Amino acid sequence: MSKLVRGFKDIFGEDAQILSELENSARKIFKLYGIKELRIPTVELKELFVKSTGDTTDIVQKEMYAFEDAGGRTLALRPEGTPGVVRAYIENNFAQAAPVQQFFYIGNMFRAERPQAGRYREFEQIGVEFMGNSSPAADAAAILLLKDIVKDFGVKNYKVKINSLGCAQCRPAYKRALIEYISIGKETLCEKCKERLKRNPLRILDCKIDGPKFAENAPKQKLCPACVEHFEEVKTLLKNKIDFEEDANLVRGLDYYTRTVFEFQAGANAQNAIAGGGRYDGLIKSMGGPDIAAVGWALGAERTVGARAEKEIKKELKVYVVSMSKKCNETAFNILQNLRAANITAEGGLFDKNIKTQMKQADKIGADYAVIIGEDELASNSAALKNLKTGEQNSYPQAELTEVLKKLI
Ligand code: HAM
Repeated sequence: MSKLVRGFKDIFGEDAQILSELENSARKIFKLYGIKELRIPTVELKELFVKSTGDTTDIVQKEMYAFEDAGGRTLALRPEGTPGVVRAYIENNFAQAAPVQQFFYIGNMFRAERPQAGRYREFEQIGVEFMGNSSPAADAAAILLLKDIVKDFGVKNYKVKINSLGCAQCRPAYKRALIEYISIGKETLCEKCKERLKRNPLRILDCKIDGPKFAENAPKQKLCPACVEHFEEVKTLLKNKIDFEEDANLVRGLDYYTRTVFEFQAGANAQNAIAGGGRYDGLIKSMGGPDIAAVGWALGAERTVGARAEKEIKKELKVYVVSMSKKCNETAFNILQNLRAANITAEGGLFDKNIKTQMKQADKIGADYAVIIGEDELASNSAALKNLKTGEQNSYPQAELTEVLKKLI
């Protein structure tokens, strides 16, 4: 027997429906903001992620599903969406022709992490990338857009943390100060952080083991005047629209960020970020495109579903159509299709089974009503409508059935 690969999952029933609900919330809000969908491939050249996600990140160093294809190219399953979006933006000439773009994507990402609660090897991200807008208004809109989606979907308890990581002008001095400070206690660092100290010291503040030891007294980022102004403006625009906390130790796990970074966090779990993002003004240029600013985020769909206290899916009225004999099948089938055409969720058509089995199936799928067509109904052009919760049954002309059901909805 074939078995599911560890760290992967089958999603069905209400779990699948609730993910669709989240996607629907996101699509609805994306429309309000005028954001267009971009579908990018699941597989890219591995090099793309090494260059953009960053070769000092855990994602690239340890978590990529990379492989050689038959043509001898080294490919990788995407661990995140941003690099592919930036590649597509450059390659499809948006950068030259229409640099201001707002993209969204919904798709699965792959990271070979140690599986645990809230951490999967294949997971869904809903992401957004705003290109060509360096204004703080883009950062603020990105954050508020995320809030609107999370709210529409129904997550209530979450915290929003924001920080500014500075730019190519002010970050190097901060990095140096941080290395100097952490080097004093470097013997106590975990193996990962010893490596990070050389390659990406900011990430030490993010480490579950070493972060708390150094975070409190670590030197704080000294932003240059332009970065201060930018960050202040972001905060002004967010004021009274969303509750947020400034967190000087919020560094994020990817290499490309500049200036604003943010996370939405829920729950006490270590994997508590339901979404994260920030500005990456240098990435498009470093990947061979023009010097164009960008800001974006990605929301982890499974974690966001987990953070919603309300576990029930929004219920829709469901009808099940039953035929009592072979003679009635065609009429029952026509009714079934007519209901669907009238936007009423209808199932049925199990006409090679007896009435008892059909009614049992109606029960199994949680139908609210059964439409029953027997020979009496056939003769009088009517349909029996049975309320499956109360047992009450009435007869209606077939031509009026959809109207009757619509009133019940
Ligand atoms: P990220 O923080 O690596 O950012 O991932 C975003 C979200 O994806 C996380 O907050 C989390 O909810 C979810 N996530 C990450 N790894 C896993 C996992 N193994 N299992 C379940 N959920 C997970 C990015 O990916 C950036 N591309 C975001 C971005 C877009 N920044 C700018 N633009």
